[in-house]
Amino acid sequence: MKEQVICKTSDIQPGEILESFFGKQNIIVCRTQDGNFYAFMNQCIHQGAPIGKGLICGATTDESTPGDYHYCHKDEILRCPWHGREFDMKNQGRMLANPSKKLASFNVRIEDEDVIVYK
Ligand code: FES
Repeated sequence: MKEQVICKTSDIQPGEILESFFGKQNIIVCRTQDGNFYAFMNQCIHQGAPIGKGLICGATTDESTPGDYHYCHKDEILRCPWHGREFDMKNQGRMLANPSKKLASFNVRIEDEDVIVYK
């Protein structure tokens, strides 16, 4: 198993993205509002955008109608900067519109204050 300390927990606040490298692979580490960390390849599965340049945001529920929006997944969704595809960080980076597709992801664990990414 390959693993690597990427940063300290205090380097990424909830709702933030940190771009880094896992070996030679360009990755991002994200933190959701509940304090958990998630790591993905820094490459959108659509046309390869650097997804770390995107936004962490939420989504609307299926009950939403024009002019009547219901929000969910606050700060759990990663939105691609190029064409806006959205990925659920807490669900293995699965695309909201097509959950059969997902970002390449890595495991993350915290030891002391270290954020460790591993395969
Ligand atoms: S490259 Fe990410 S949505 Fe198109």
